[in-house]
Amino acid sequence: MRLFVAIPLPDSARAALMKWAQSCGTHAGLRWTPEEQLHITLQFLGEVTDDRVSRVGEALDGIVASAFPVAFERLEVLGRAGVLAVAARPTPELVTLAGEMRSRLASFAQDPEEREFHPHVTLARARRGGKVPKPHSLPPLPALEFTATCFRLYRSQTRPEGAVYTVIREWPLPRSIVQL
Ligand code: 2AM
Repeated sequence: MRLFVAIPLPDSARAALMKWAQSCGTHAGLRWTPEEQLHITLQFLGEVTDDRVSRVGEALDGIVASAFPVAFERLEVLGRAGVLAVAARPTPELVTLAGEMRSRLASFAQDPEEREFHPHVTLARARRGGKVPKPHSLPPLPALEFTATCFRLYRSQTRPEGAVYTVIREWPLPRSIVQL
């Protein structure tokens, strides 16, 4: 199974991004990410054999982290002009969580060209042979912030019409309790 761990976007952030996407008008060469799939990848694992999936879950059980704010910074183009994304601010909470996952999951990750952690949400991909529009040619992105309250282990299945992501398990990031 092709696996990755990610923070899903809550309804409010998804709705704001979809509204912005609609304001971009028609771009026939783009394939927009379906709303329910919008996420920030924390750790990409690549192919993991079925018998090891529960051990990935056990490794993630050991992560201790609280809910934290996530802010989006700017539109950007990634991967040789093939991906339109919004960068998330690499705050200490986000970078620490991703770093902890990387070390706990190192023995499972199979991708030979592992990328540096660059928190972002993929908004759209260029269709075959195309390029995504330059960010400055698109409407400005609204200021967006949300609280990350969980992370999820996903399975990704590649299909001709685009990848399909299925949630395997979810871990809450509890809101810290302030004691008076
Ligand atoms: P992307 O959004 O930048 O395409 C499922 O494929 C998720 O894992 C996507 O969010 C994708 O990132 C990410 N992903 C795919 N291949 C990856 C790789 N080699 N390194 C890091 N992340 C990857």
